[in-house]
Amino acid sequence: MTPEGKVVLIDPFISGNPTTPEAMKNLDALGQVDLILVTHGHGDHLGDTAAIAAKTGAKVAVHADMGSTLQALGIVPKESLIRFNKSGPITPVKGVTVIMVHAEHGSSIMHNDQVHPGGEPVGFIVELSDGETFYHAGDTGVFADMAFIGSYYQPEVAFLPIGGHFTMDPAHAAYATRELLQPDTVMPIHYGTNPMIKGTPEEFKAALGDWSGELVVLQPGDTRTF
Ligand code: NI
Repeated sequence: MTPEGKVVLIDPFISGNPTTPEAMKNLDALGQVDLILVTHGHGDHLGDTAAIAAKTGAKVAVHADMGSTLQALGIVPKESLIRFNKSGPITPVKGVTVIMVHAEHGSSIMHNDQVHPGGEPVGFIVELSDGETFYHAGDTGVFADMAFIGSYYQPEVAFLPIGGHFTMDPAHAAYATRELLQPDTVMPIHYGTNPMIKGTPEEFKAALGDWSGELVVLQPGDTRTF
């Protein structure tokens, strides 16, 4: 929820996520949603995007090439899509500025047992009207331009994957936090939803060592206000 009362979701993998509390799997209970940002086409990120957009009228802002595939396959209708690309800031809803940034990963869309191109994988910088700036890295390995993201956008809060195997593991994410991004607060994401992504918040905390920022670990269903 933003200062203007807008609701933004990033990678809404809800009903198919084994860690979602049962009571929260009912998408009707989401209520108002104004904007959905999707970092890449993998099923554990695209998730319930189409269903939520259909229920709520939310705009779906994605990499332009992923948008083309979503439209061509009839997954998300053209009128719901905002197709954009890296760097150019957009303001898809009042008071919310979104910048698409690089990610080091893949992107494809599995639909009816066929694999389709999902554009490039990306992360997002989200700037709110009160000056709060978030960086959601999506699925990514560590990359040197995280230093650019840290110095140029100066995010207060960074959401970083720690699961390993497909993304950064706790050691990589700790390096990105300390040496490249230097946010005030870091929150680990993308772990514990399947047996391959083994990194844990405890390992991340240990890898961060004496880093002076704040580590926030949420359990599914928790909320946090910034
Ligand atoms: Ni992925």
